[in-house]
Amino acid sequence: MLFGTAKWNQKDHLEIGGVDTIELAKKYGTPLFVYDVQHIREMARGFKQTFKEAGVKNKVVYASKAFSCLAVYKVLQEESLACDVVSGGELYTALKGGMDPKDIEFHGNNKTRSELQMAVDEGVGTIIVDNFYEIQLLSEILHAKQKRQEVLFRVTPGISAETHDYILTGQADSKFGFDVASGQAKQALKQLLADEVFVVKGVHCHIGSQIFSPEGFVAATDIIFDLLATWKKELDYTATVFNVGGGFGIQYTESDTPVSPAEFVQTIIQQVKENCQKIAYPFPEIWIEPGRSIVAEAGVTLYSVGSQKDVPSIRKFVSVDGGMGDNIRPALYDARYDALVANRKIEANEEKESINIVGKYCESGDVLIRDIAFPTVTEEDIIALTSTGAYGYSMASNYNRNPRPAVVFVEGGKETLVVRRETYEDLIDLDVPVD
Ligand code: LLP
Repeated sequence: MLFGTAKWNQKDHLEIGGVDTIELAKKYGTPLFVYDVQHIREMARGFKQTFKEAGVKNKVVYASKAFSCLAVYKVLQEESLACDVVSGGELYTALKGGMDPKDIEFHGNNKTRSELQMAVDEGVGTIIVDNFYEIQLLSEILHAKQKRQEVLFRVTPGISAETHDYILTGQADSKFGFDVASGQAKQALKQLLADEVFVVKGVHCHIGSQIFSPEGFVAATDIIFDLLATWKKELDYTATVFNVGGGFGIQYTESDTPVSPAEFVQTIIQQVKENCQKIAYPFPEIWIEPGRSIVAEAGVTLYSVGSQKDVPSIRKFVSVDGGMGDNIRPALYDARYDALVANRKIEANEEKESINIVGKYCESGDVLIRDIAFPTVTEEDIIALTSTGAYGYSMASNYNRNPRPAVVFVEGGKETLVVRRETYEDLIDLDVPVD
């Protein structure tokens, strides 16, 4: 599926951001991640615009885990987005990428002492406190440094969203956040309020990822506002921030039918409004943390076709020069993708066969796409997997000692190499030489 500025040019090549992807493959090699920067901007602006139209104070916080590199933070700054980080490494990258520390949120269920110290020293705007251990650790650090810190605390609302089990996070049986039903959330708030080093701005929840309809957000909002009403009465606490997390679904294939980002946000705003009216609560700022929905559809991965194996009356395998090392999602989540032949537009009436597009890694599970109806391809062809911009490069590995691909940003007819391809030298760079 084509998104953003992607189209077929006069040569019948896939063109993105005004740049011919076949030229990119020639120049930078394959596998290659190509990002449509204009599309990233449009997604970012869309979220901001929906809040603006509703006149709601907001923060759009890009979830770095979807794709993090120096260049992405530059785009975020240009689009006035904040970002979250979930590790010292993401924090380091965001800071080196020029993010104002105040615009950074720090998440995670097991932030280490040194990561928390780093966050406090760097002046990270918001720490999302996840558990009792962290309250203790962060309190010690802040007291020792005689600093105060704005925090949200993460609540697990106890609802399930319809997505893959591994990317579900809102259910009670979760390693993330303070559980509501058992009273841990209230206990956490009490502890935070009792310690003057914490400035408790409000509450956070995240119900899961790749969610297609707003019902889960509506349910989570209702649960959170029931809690807020109780906490106002019992603890005299009023939240000024309600962070509903991310998880807005995108289209990997035509069978994916998420509602639009605008509809997600409008529904959440409406639900917050109704709840505030119902319990006479001051309208809080609404923060969201979209990761996938900002970068997924902006990314494609280009691969060169290599060996092919046709097992008579069983299956044809078409191998490409990447695979699970640059996209673990099909193996890990049974994720489905769509693919194109980037050097020629497939005609609707062209004959197709059912193939598996597989990678070059030594695993039978290294399948990028199972059973896709595809035209016959040869080693002259470049296959483009679409919607690979989120959790592809960011989850990439060096399995089988394959170097990780390069990443190129394209916009306005210009390309910029933003992550260079790893070399064999890079691969042994951390190995201590043996004599
Ligand atoms: N906020 C929090 C607290 C999160 O845990 C996540 C994702 C997000 C925001 C961003 O969610 P998004 O808008 O990107 O769906 N590797 C998996 C996804 C894991 C998501 C983990 N948390 C995948 O490839 O599908």
